Amino acid sequence: MNYLLKCGLALVLFTGLAACSAQEEKPKTSAEDVRLTAEDQVYVGFVLDTLKDERWYKDKELFEEAAESKGAHVKTLAANGNDDVQLKQAELLIEEGVDVLVVVPHDAAFSAAIVDMAHKAGVKVISYDRLITNSEVDYYISFDNVKVGELQASEVVKQASNGNFAYIGGAESDNNAVLFRQGAMNVLKPLIDKGSVKLIHDQYTDGWDPITAEQNMKTALAKNGNNVDAVIAANDGTAGGVINSLSSVGLAGRIPVSGQDAELEGVRRVVKGTQTMTVYKPITLLAEQAADMAVKVGSGEDVAADQSVHNGKIDVPSLLLEPVAVTKENVRDTVIKDGYLTEKDVYQ
Ligand code: BGC
Repeated sequence: MNYLLKCGLALVLFTGLAACSAQEEKPKTSAEDVRLTAEDQVYVGFVLDTLKDERWYKDKELFEEAAESKGAHVKTLAANGNDDVQLKQAELLIEEGVDVLVVVPHDAAFSAAIVDMAHKAGVKVISYDRLITNSEVDYYISFDNVKVGELQASEVVKQASNGNFAYIGGAESDNNAVLFRQGAMNVLKPLIDKGSVKLIHDQYTDGWDPITAEQNMKTALAKNGNNVDAVIAANDGTAGGVINSLSSVGLAGRIPVSGQDAELEGVRRVVKGTQTMTVYKPITLLAEQAADMAVKVGSGEDVAADQSVHNGKIDVPSLLLEPVAVTKENVRDTVIKDGYLTEKDVYQ
């Protein structure tokens, strides 16, 4: 089937969501061609939840580059935050004959259906960055996400060790959001227990949406007469929303706020002083290791993993990388030194 026809069909199938157009800049070899022309070439399907946050573009590019440099053929599809679309996209890739699926699940629990479907077709699944829960997913590659939350709360507590704290989390349907919160609470709980910190607001943010985070922060401020001393926001997107709310009551830059992802805007706010910290997760490393794993798994090799994470059903062989806290003091020694962002972009 030619590319245009396939995209047209996919668009109809996926209820009008841009399943092919945005994610595939150029027509790639069709699965039929892959089978005919490169019997021994590993075909990798990369299924993303979204391309909305800045980081996922990096994941996409770095992963494709790394897997293709190992001789694999990669097709990436993003589901625009829609579970049914994600399931359909996985189905399409399985029908096209992928050797392995690498999945960033939109919903940790719902995506177990992708694993079942892939296994029925003899295709192994790697959970990328986010864990697919209650399933027999084959591998999990991510960062130490509890540590991400611990870093966020620790940096905030360095600036404000007591008072009214608000927790503005990520999407509860994302297992990472739960782990980030768990890490933050590891740090806050002793302070809450001894009465020095009061958690005046604790809320997840649907779809990780910055506008929702802004609204949630508005609610937190309103119900406490703007008497808020610190905010732990789960990523740079939600931090941006929180800081907009703080701005509207003159609190931006006056109370600590955390973030995550070392997005350009997040790091700029760290340098400016409206955001206390962000968490740098070296995505280059994640993408390279995942690509390596995918190519091996797709060729039928077993991959050794020295860790495992229980996902509610099994202990999933896992690889967890280290996150790094970024503050005004170490921007140059971390994200800039690694070439993740440039000095020029950050300091404009
Ligand atoms: C990722 C974060 C990201 C968030 C929203 C999480 O699962 O680990 O890096 O900011 O999703 O996309």
